[in-house]
Amino acid sequence: MNIAVSKTSHPRLASTDLKSPVFGKIYSDHMFVADFANGQWQDYRIVPYGNISISPANTTLHYASTIFEGLKAYRNLHNEVVVFRPSDNAKRMIKSAERMCMPAVPESLFMEGLTELLKLDQGWITQHAGTSLYVRPFQFAMDPYVGIRPSDTYTFMIITGPVESYYSQPVKVKIETQYTRATAGGTGFAKTGGNYAAALRPALEAQKEGYDQLIWTDSVSHEYVEESGTMNLMFVINDTLITAPTGDTILKGITRDSILTLARDKGMKVEERPIKVTEIIDALKKGILQEAFGVGTAATVAPIQSIGLNGVNYEMPDVRLSQYSQGFLENLNQIKSGVLEDKHGWIYKVLD
Ligand SMILES: Cc1ncc(COP(=O)(O)O)c(C=O)c1O
Repeated sequence: MNIAVSKTSHPRLASTDLKSPVFGKIYSDHMFVADFANGQWQDYRIVPYGNISISPANTTLHYASTIFEGLKAYRNLHNEVVVFRPSDNAKRMIKSAERMCMPAVPESLFMEGLTELLKLDQGWITQHAGTSLYVRPFQFAMDPYVGIRPSDTYTFMIITGPVESYYSQPVKVKIETQYTRATAGGTGFAKTGGNYAAALRPALEAQKEGYDQLIWTDSVSHEYVEESGTMNLMFVINDTLITAPTGDTILKGITRDSILTLARDKGMKVEERPIKVTEIIDALKKGILQEAFGVGTAATVAPIQSIGLNGVNYEMPDVRLSQYSQGFLENLNQIKSGVLEDKHGWIYKVLD
Protein backbone atom coordinates (compact mmCIF):
# COMPACT_ATOMS: atom_id res chain seq x y z
CA MET A 1 0.00 0.00 0.00
CA ASN A 2 1.47 3.31 -1.02
CA ILE A 3 1.00 6.09 1.54
CA ALA A 4 2.30 9.53 0.52
CA VAL A 5 3.78 11.32 3.52
CA SER A 6 3.95 15.06 3.79
CA LYS A 7 5.50 16.15 7.09
CA THR A 8 4.54 19.27 8.98
CA SER A 9 6.89 22.24 8.83
CA HIS A 10 5.52 23.45 12.20
CA PRO A 11 5.79 20.52 14.64
CA ARG A 12 3.97 21.21 17.93
CA LEU A 13 5.33 18.24 19.85
CA ALA A 14 8.15 20.06 21.67
CA SER A 15 5.79 22.74 22.97
CA THR A 16 3.04 20.35 24.15
CA ASP A 17 2.62 19.23 27.75
CA LEU A 18 2.39 15.45 27.51
CA LYS A 19 2.22 14.83 31.28
CA SER A 20 -1.39 15.86 31.82
CA PRO A 21 -3.07 16.44 28.45
CA VAL A 22 -6.79 17.19 28.63
CA PHE A 23 -8.91 14.57 26.86
CA GLY A 24 -9.94 15.58 23.35
CA LYS A 25 -8.28 19.00 23.21
CA ILE A 26 -4.82 18.37 21.78
CA TYR A 27 -4.04 16.64 18.49
CA SER A 28 -0.71 15.36 17.29
CA ASP A 29 1.17 16.67 14.29
CA HIS A 30 -0.18 14.48 11.48
CA MET A 31 -3.32 12.74 10.25
CA PHE A 32 -4.04 9.90 7.85
CA VAL A 33 -6.50 10.47 5.01
CA ALA A 34 -8.01 8.20 2.32
CA ASP A 35 -10.75 8.99 -0.17
CA PHE A 36 -13.43 6.77 -1.62
CA ALA A 37 -14.46 7.62 -5.17
CA ASN A 38 -15.38 5.68 -8.31
CA GLY A 39 -16.12 2.62 -6.18
CA GLN A 40 -12.71 2.36 -4.51
CA TRP A 41 -10.50 3.61 -1.70
CA GLN A 42 -7.58 5.65 -3.01
CA ASP A 43 -5.13 8.48 -2.48
CA TYR A 44 -3.72 7.28 0.84
CA ARG A 45 -1.77 10.05 2.52
CA ILE A 46 -0.39 11.34 5.79
CA VAL A 47 -0.52 15.11 6.00
CA PRO A 48 -0.03 17.78 8.69
CA TYR A 49 -2.98 17.87 11.13
CA GLY A 50 -5.24 20.70 10.04
CA ASN A 51 -8.63 21.87 8.90
CA ILE A 52 -10.35 20.31 5.93
CA SER A 53 -12.56 21.95 3.38
CA ILE A 54 -16.07 20.71 2.67
CA SER A 55 -19.04 21.96 0.71
CA PRO A 56 -21.89 23.58 2.67
CA ALA A 57 -24.05 21.00 0.92
CA ASN A 58 -21.90 18.16 2.29
CA THR A 59 -24.37 15.39 3.00
CA THR A 60 -22.81 14.50 6.38
CA LEU A 61 -23.54 17.98 7.71
CA HIS A 62 -27.21 17.50 6.92
CA TYR A 63 -27.89 13.79 7.40
CA ALA A 64 -25.16 12.58 9.80
CA SER A 65 -23.63 10.02 7.47
CA THR A 66 -20.66 9.45 9.75
CA ILE A 67 -19.10 6.67 11.81
CA PHE A 68 -16.07 6.54 14.07
CA GLU A 69 -13.89 4.43 16.32
CA GLY A 70 -11.87 5.08 19.45
CA LEU A 71 -8.79 3.20 20.62
CA LYS A 72 -5.52 3.88 22.40
CA ALA A 73 -1.79 3.52 21.76
CA TYR A 74 0.65 3.20 24.65
CA ARG A 75 4.39 3.12 25.22
CA ASN A 76 5.17 -0.07 27.13
CA LEU A 77 7.95 -0.78 29.61
CA HIS A 78 10.25 -1.87 26.79
CA ASN A 79 9.77 1.51 25.13
CA GLU A 80 7.74 -0.05 22.31
CA VAL A 81 4.61 1.55 20.88
CA VAL A 82 1.65 -0.80 21.29
CA VAL A 83 -2.03 -0.55 20.41
CA PHE A 84 -4.79 -2.41 22.24
CA ARG A 85 -6.89 -4.67 19.97
CA PRO A 86 -6.93 -2.38 16.90
CA SER A 87 -8.18 -5.04 14.52
CA ASP A 88 -11.32 -5.36 16.65
CA ASN A 89 -11.95 -1.65 16.11
CA ALA A 90 -11.40 -2.10 12.38
CA LYS A 91 -13.95 -4.93 12.34
CA ARG A 92 -16.47 -2.94 14.37
CA MET A 93 -16.12 0.01 12.00
CA ILE A 94 -17.00 -2.32 9.12
CA LYS A 95 -20.18 -3.32 11.00
CA SER A 96 -21.05 0.36 11.56
CA ALA A 97 -20.42 1.04 7.86
CA GLU A 98 -22.78 -1.75 6.81
CA ARG A 99 -25.58 -0.38 8.98
CA MET A 100 -25.03 3.18 7.76
CA CYS A 101 -24.87 2.15 4.11
CA MET A 102 -21.25 3.23 3.68
CA PRO A 103 -18.42 1.45 1.87
CA ALA A 104 -16.33 -0.52 4.38
CA VAL A 105 -12.78 0.57 5.13
CA PRO A 106 -10.90 -2.72 4.68
CA GLU A 107 -9.12 -3.90 7.84
CA SER A 108 -5.78 -3.75 5.99
CA LEU A 109 -6.29 -0.06 5.12
CA PHE A 110 -7.31 0.75 8.70
CA MET A 111 -4.26 -1.08 10.10
CA GLU A 112 -1.72 0.33 7.65
CA GLY A 113 -2.96 3.88 7.99
CA LEU A 114 -2.85 3.54 11.77
CA THR A 115 0.60 1.96 11.78
CA GLU A 116 2.26 4.52 9.52
CA LEU A 117 0.65 7.43 11.39
CA LEU A 118 1.80 6.09 14.76
CA LYS A 119 5.32 5.50 13.47
CA LEU A 120 5.52 9.12 12.39
CA ASP A 121 3.93 10.61 15.53
CA GLN A 122 5.36 8.14 18.04
CA GLY A 123 7.06 10.97 19.95
CA TRP A 124 3.57 11.88 21.18
CA ILE A 125 3.34 8.60 23.10
CA THR A 126 5.10 8.63 26.47
CA GLN A 127 5.43 6.34 29.47
CA HIS A 128 3.92 8.92 31.86
CA ALA A 129 1.53 7.05 34.14
CA GLY A 130 -2.11 7.16 33.05
CA THR A 131 -1.40 8.76 29.67
CA SER A 132 -1.85 7.32 26.20
CA LEU A 133 -2.40 8.44 22.64
CA TYR A 134 -6.09 8.36 21.79
CA VAL A 135 -6.67 7.26 18.21
CA ARG A 136 -9.81 8.43 16.42
CA PRO A 137 -10.49 6.82 13.02
CA PHE A 138 -13.64 8.16 11.33
CA GLN A 139 -15.42 8.00 8.01
CA PHE A 140 -17.98 10.34 6.54
CA ALA A 141 -19.91 10.99 3.35
CA MET A 142 -18.40 13.62 1.09
CA ASP A 143 -20.96 14.22 -1.65
CA PRO A 144 -21.94 17.90 -1.96
CA TYR A 145 -25.57 16.91 -2.24
CA VAL A 146 -28.59 17.85 -0.16
CA GLY A 147 -30.65 14.78 -0.87
CA ILE A 148 -31.19 11.61 1.12
CA ARG A 149 -29.33 8.77 -0.50
CA PRO A 150 -26.00 7.03 0.11
CA SER A 151 -23.09 9.18 -1.00
CA ASP A 152 -20.84 8.24 -3.90
CA THR A 153 -17.78 9.68 -2.19
CA TYR A 154 -16.41 9.28 1.34
CA THR A 155 -13.37 10.24 3.37
CA PHE A 156 -11.64 8.08 5.96
CA MET A 157 -9.33 9.83 8.40
CA ILE A 158 -7.33 8.99 11.50
CA ILE A 159 -6.40 11.69 13.97
CA THR A 160 -4.64 11.10 17.28
CA GLY A 161 -4.13 13.07 20.47
CA PRO A 162 -2.43 12.57 23.84
CA VAL A 163 -4.84 11.99 26.72
CA GLU A 164 -5.09 11.30 30.40
CA SER A 165 -7.70 8.94 31.81
CA TYR A 166 -11.18 10.24 31.06
CA TYR A 167 -12.73 10.02 34.53
CA SER A 168 -10.32 10.36 37.38
CA GLN A 169 -13.06 10.23 40.03
CA PRO A 170 -15.70 7.57 40.68
CA VAL A 171 -18.85 8.54 38.80
CA LYS A 172 -22.38 9.42 39.88
CA VAL A 173 -24.90 8.05 37.41
CA LYS A 174 -28.62 8.54 36.87
CA ILE A 175 -30.87 5.78 35.58
CA GLU A 176 -32.67 7.33 32.61
CA THR A 177 -36.32 6.34 32.43
CA GLN A 178 -37.68 8.96 30.05
CA TYR A 179 -35.30 9.41 27.13
CA THR A 180 -34.08 6.55 24.94
CA ARG A 181 -30.67 6.05 23.35
CA ALA A 182 -31.42 3.12 21.08
CA THR A 183 -34.30 0.96 19.95
CA ALA A 184 -34.55 -2.52 18.46
CA GLY A 185 -33.84 -2.28 14.75
CA GLY A 186 -32.10 1.08 15.20
CA THR A 187 -28.43 2.06 15.18
CA GLY A 188 -27.45 1.58 18.83
CA PHE A 189 -24.82 -1.05 18.00
CA ALA A 190 -23.17 1.19 15.40
CA LYS A 191 -20.70 3.90 16.34
CA THR A 192 -22.43 6.63 14.40
CA GLY A 193 -22.51 10.32 15.28
CA GLY A 194 -26.29 10.66 15.58
CA ASN A 195 -26.42 8.28 18.54
CA TYR A 196 -24.16 10.62 20.46
CA ALA A 197 -25.82 13.85 19.32
CA ALA A 198 -29.19 12.54 20.48
CA ALA A 199 -27.71 11.72 23.89
CA LEU A 200 -26.57 15.28 24.59
CA ARG A 201 -29.88 16.67 25.86
CA PRO A 202 -30.58 13.83 28.35
CA ALA A 203 -26.93 13.89 29.53
CA LEU A 204 -27.04 17.66 30.04
CA GLU A 205 -30.23 17.38 32.08
CA ALA A 206 -28.60 14.71 34.24
CA GLN A 207 -25.54 16.92 34.72
CA LYS A 208 -27.75 19.79 35.86
CA GLU A 209 -29.13 17.40 38.48
CA GLY A 210 -25.58 16.72 39.70
CA TYR A 211 -24.82 13.46 37.88
CA ASP A 212 -21.79 12.70 35.70
CA GLN A 213 -23.51 10.30 33.35
CA LEU A 214 -26.66 8.39 32.48
CA ILE A 215 -27.46 4.74 32.63
CA TRP A 216 -29.62 4.05 29.59
CA THR A 217 -32.50 1.65 29.90
CA ASP A 218 -34.40 -0.24 27.19
CA SER A 219 -36.73 1.82 25.03
CA VAL A 220 -39.84 -0.28 25.60
CA SER A 221 -40.21 -0.68 29.37
CA HIS A 222 -37.26 1.34 30.75
CA GLU A 223 -36.88 -1.57 33.17
CA TYR A 224 -33.64 -3.04 31.88
CA VAL A 225 -30.19 -1.53 32.16
CA GLU A 226 -28.35 -1.07 28.85
CA GLU A 227 -25.17 1.04 28.85
CA SER A 228 -23.81 4.38 30.00
CA GLY A 229 -22.42 7.28 27.98
CA THR A 230 -19.45 5.76 26.22
CA MET A 231 -19.19 2.76 28.50
CA ASN A 232 -20.71 -0.67 28.89
CA LEU A 233 -21.87 -1.51 32.40
CA MET A 234 -20.83 -4.29 34.74
CA PHE A 235 -22.12 -5.31 38.14
CA VAL A 236 -20.78 -7.77 40.70
CA ILE A 237 -23.48 -9.49 42.74
CA ASN A 238 -22.55 -12.41 44.98
CA ASP A 239 -19.12 -12.55 43.33
CA THR A 240 -20.71 -13.01 39.89
CA LEU A 241 -19.86 -10.57 37.11
CA ILE A 242 -23.04 -9.54 35.30
CA THR A 243 -23.40 -7.44 32.15
CA ALA A 244 -26.19 -6.85 29.65
CA PRO A 245 -26.01 -8.83 26.39
CA THR A 246 -25.08 -6.75 23.34
CA GLY A 247 -27.79 -6.86 20.71
CA ASP A 248 -28.74 -4.11 18.30
CA THR A 249 -29.18 -1.48 21.02
CA ILE A 250 -25.83 -1.75 22.82
CA LEU A 251 -22.35 -1.07 21.47
CA LYS A 252 -20.21 -4.22 21.56
CA GLY A 253 -17.42 -2.76 23.65
CA ILE A 254 -13.90 -4.08 23.26
CA THR A 255 -13.09 -3.29 26.91
CA ARG A 256 -16.25 -5.20 27.87
CA ASP A 257 -15.11 -8.24 25.92
CA SER A 258 -11.58 -7.99 27.39
CA ILE A 259 -12.86 -7.86 30.98
CA LEU A 260 -15.29 -10.74 30.44
CA THR A 261 -12.37 -12.74 29.06
CA LEU A 262 -10.12 -11.87 32.03
CA ALA A 263 -12.92 -12.76 34.47
CA ARG A 264 -13.47 -16.14 32.81
CA ASP A 265 -9.69 -16.73 32.84
CA LYS A 266 -9.73 -16.20 36.61
CA GLY A 267 -12.54 -18.70 36.97
CA MET A 268 -15.02 -16.00 37.97
CA LYS A 269 -18.69 -16.66 37.30
CA VAL A 270 -19.84 -14.48 34.41
CA GLU A 271 -23.38 -13.81 33.22
CA GLU A 272 -24.35 -11.94 30.04
CA ARG A 273 -28.06 -11.48 30.51
CA PRO A 274 -30.73 -8.79 30.77
CA ILE A 275 -30.47 -6.93 34.09
CA LYS A 276 -33.48 -5.26 35.64
CA VAL A 277 -33.06 -1.90 37.35
CA THR A 278 -34.99 -3.33 40.30
CA GLU A 279 -32.49 -6.19 40.58
CA ILE A 280 -29.65 -3.69 41.01
CA ILE A 281 -31.52 -1.62 43.59
CA ASP A 282 -32.68 -4.73 45.50
CA ALA A 283 -29.15 -6.15 45.53
CA LEU A 284 -27.86 -2.81 46.79
CA LYS A 285 -30.45 -2.74 49.59
CA LYS A 286 -29.66 -6.34 50.58
CA GLY A 287 -25.94 -5.52 50.62
CA ILE A 288 -25.08 -8.13 47.97
CA LEU A 289 -24.25 -5.66 45.18
CA GLN A 290 -20.50 -5.54 45.61
CA GLU A 291 -19.52 -3.35 42.65
CA ALA A 292 -20.89 -1.40 39.72
CA PHE A 293 -18.61 0.05 37.07
CA GLY A 294 -18.45 1.32 33.53
CA VAL A 295 -15.94 -0.07 31.03
CA GLY A 296 -14.74 1.54 27.82
CA THR A 297 -11.65 2.75 26.01
CA ALA A 298 -11.77 6.32 27.33
CA ALA A 299 -11.95 5.49 31.03
CA THR A 300 -10.97 1.77 30.83
CA VAL A 301 -12.75 1.19 34.17
CA ALA A 302 -14.83 3.83 35.93
CA PRO A 303 -16.19 2.79 39.33
CA ILE A 304 -19.71 3.99 40.10
CA GLN A 305 -20.10 5.86 43.35
CA SER A 306 -23.85 6.36 43.38
CA ILE A 307 -26.89 5.49 41.29
CA GLY A 308 -29.87 7.84 41.02
CA LEU A 309 -33.34 6.48 40.30
CA ASN A 310 -36.45 8.69 40.21
CA GLY A 311 -34.79 11.34 42.36
CA VAL A 312 -33.43 8.92 44.99
CA ASN A 313 -29.66 8.42 45.18
CA TYR A 314 -28.34 5.05 46.18
CA GLU A 315 -24.78 5.02 47.44
CA MET A 316 -22.53 2.21 46.26
CA PRO A 317 -20.12 0.39 48.57
CA ASP A 318 -16.87 2.33 49.08
CA VAL A 319 -15.05 2.23 45.74
CA ARG A 320 -11.74 1.74 47.55
CA LEU A 321 -13.02 -1.77 48.30
CA SER A 322 -13.72 -2.45 44.61
CA GLN A 323 -11.32 -5.34 44.31
CA TYR A 324 -12.79 -6.73 41.10
CA SER A 325 -12.94 -3.59 38.98
CA GLN A 326 -9.58 -2.39 40.25
CA GLY A 327 -8.12 -5.85 39.60
CA PHE A 328 -9.37 -5.82 36.00
CA LEU A 329 -8.02 -2.32 35.49
CA GLU A 330 -4.64 -3.35 36.87
CA ASN A 331 -4.55 -6.51 34.73
CA LEU A 332 -5.39 -4.57 31.56
CA ASN A 333 -2.75 -1.95 32.39
CA GLN A 334 -0.22 -4.71 33.04
CA ILE A 335 -0.98 -6.36 29.69
CA LYS A 336 -0.65 -3.02 27.89
CA SER A 337 2.59 -2.13 29.64
CA GLY A 338 4.12 -5.57 29.06
CA VAL A 339 4.23 -6.71 32.71
CA LEU A 340 1.65 -9.46 32.17
CA GLU A 341 1.75 -11.95 29.33
CA ASP A 342 -0.57 -11.07 26.41
CA LYS A 343 -2.25 -14.47 26.31
CA HIS A 344 -5.06 -13.44 23.97
CA GLY A 345 -3.04 -11.61 21.33
CA TRP A 346 -4.56 -8.23 22.21
CA ILE A 347 -1.38 -6.21 21.85
CA TYR A 348 -0.39 -4.93 18.41
CA LYS A 349 3.19 -3.69 18.24
CA VAL A 350 3.98 -0.77 15.96
CA LEU A 351 7.45 -1.67 14.76
CA ASP A 352 9.80 0.65 12.91
C1 LIG B 1 -21.95 3.85 23.40
C2 LIG B 1 -20.68 3.20 23.81
N1 LIG B 1 -20.75 2.10 24.59
C3 LIG B 1 -19.64 1.44 24.98
C4 LIG B 1 -18.38 1.88 24.62
C5 LIG B 1 -17.17 1.12 25.04
O1 LIG B 1 -16.56 0.47 23.94
P1 LIG B 1 -15.00 0.19 23.89
O2 LIG B 1 -14.68 -0.63 25.09
O3 LIG B 1 -14.78 -0.55 22.62
O4 LIG B 1 -14.32 1.51 23.93
C6 LIG B 1 -18.27 3.04 23.83
C7 LIG B 1 -16.95 3.54 23.43
O5 LIG B 1 -16.48 3.25 22.38
C8 LIG B 1 -19.44 3.70 23.40
O6 LIG B 1 -19.38 4.80 22.64
